[in-house]
Amino acid sequence: MPVSLTSTDPLSWENATGDADTMLQNLQANILKGHVRDHLRILLLQFDKGPEDPTEARTFLTRLAPLMKSAKTQLQEVKDHKQSESNGESGTDTSPYVGVGLTKGGYLRLGLSEQAVDEAFKDAAFKRGMKEADLEDPPTTQWEGAYQKEIHAIVLVGGAEPGSVSTKVQEIEDLRTSSINVIGRETGLALRDAAGRGIEHFGYVDGRSQPLFLKEDLEEESQNGGTSIWDPKEPLGRVLVEDPLAPNNATDFGSYFVLRKLEQNVRAFRKAEDDLANALNLRDGDRERAGAMLVGRFKDGTPLTLQATPGAHSPVMNDFTYAGDGAADKCPFQAHIRKTNPRGSGGFEPPKAERRHLMARRGQTYGERTDGPGDEPPEGGVGLLFMAFNSNLVDQFEFTQLNWANSSRFPKFGSEPAPGLDPVIGQGDRIPATWPQVWGEEAGQEVPAPAEAVTMKGGEYFFMPSLPFLRSL
Ligand code: HEM
Repeated sequence: MPVSLTSTDPLSWENATGDADTMLQNLQANILKGHVRDHLRILLLQFDKGPEDPTEARTFLTRLAPLMKSAKTQLQEVKDHKQSESNGESGTDTSPYVGVGLTKGGYLRLGLSEQAVDEAFKDAAFKRGMKEADLEDPPTTQWEGAYQKEIHAIVLVGGAEPGSVSTKVQEIEDLRTSSINVIGRETGLALRDAAGRGIEHFGYVDGRSQPLFLKEDLEEESQNGGTSIWDPKEPLGRVLVEDPLAPNNATDFGSYFVLRKLEQNVRAFRKAEDDLANALNLRDGDRERAGAMLVGRFKDGTPLTLQATPGAHSPVMNDFTYAGDGAADKCPFQAHIRKTNPRGSGGFEPPKAERRHLMARRGQTYGERTDGPGDEPPEGGVGLLFMAFNSNLVDQFEFTQLNWANSSRFPKFGSEPAPGLDPVIGQGDRIPATWPQVWGEEAGQEVPAPAEAVTMKGGEYFFMPSLPFLRSL
């Protein structure tokens, strides 16, 4: 079975044969399906030796390859784990995931010429890097030190248990020779709510809405959550591209990866929720709706466009669009999830074309919380390591941040006032926005925009190559 990047008939990994099966064995894990990464360590690497002496960098990467599991292994492990849990056993252990990405500078340090790299990779954002991106980010001089430097590679290690993740990190450290330097480290740590759902630091369920690529995942979603109103199915080409430098272009694929360290000022966000509730004169239980209007979901993940109060059934609902909320009387246009996935209601592109901006988010929270209930929440030191896989960074991550989140005029709707920036991640001049006072009723009130509570501290673009590429070095 050949690999099709455009087919809308989803690939069944269990029944894949020929090239499609080899592709899954050659692909890094965590791209087609998120890998467990409650404990996550990130190493940012610099290869000291110049392009004329690439041996150490090449050897390091070749030795790393055997520590990495393939997409196929990940999928099989998840299946075995679920099987043993349903048999009443404790669940088989899954090994940590190791992911590797290279920047353009990293490829040059492997001894490839500038021309070869420029011709091989099509993505303009990858080639220029995040430091040169025009996303209204803070100046690079304000980024954390590691991100100000030239990063050549990223290594991700993620798993369920801190012990096995640390052991794996040590194995990787042991492979380093003197010219392979760790210039930055990040530690991700999952946060969960009382029901065990993954949340981000503002307290909202995160990571729920994802494009799905595999037949088995789509079947599970249609049984558990439903896919009849919002179909999460996307072709493999939404995240995969041929690995241009790998031995076999029929079976070797990779993905462009974005990492952004986003610090969250939780105290400022709480204030924004309170200020909005006060400005709209929301009372008692209805005050929670203020935060839901900023995000587009209540803390428990209930979509605001579907109901005025939290508590929708489990699993967290994702089978919805904004078709019943065209004038945004329920969920405001500027709510984070409506901005970053208008689900066909953006007004600038036909619904099908609009979907090409979606990406596979694989973020993880960082920083430990010491505040208890009633304490003042932190103003810094915690946040989100935003990560996502793309087949085209310009059209997906950058488009979402720039043309949607940072644009006060998106989405477009008749002669309504401009929605304003995404209150969670919008960067740039924040104009006052209009918010529905009563859920589902037309009257809206203009309120000054909340201050930015998310600060970008640095980031970079990488290409996550196929395993045969790493082995071939
Ligand atoms: C969804 C929070 C950064 C894109 C969500 C959700 C939350 C959230 C709570 C709802 C859960 C879900 O639907 O899966 C945050 C926070 C961020 C952040 C606190 C920063 C600290 C970003 C960035 C982007 C982004 C940088 C992209 C530029 C998305 C997308 C969705 C989403 C595409 C799914 C929307 C949907 O399909 O309905 N985010 N996010 N987020 N976020 Fe973010």
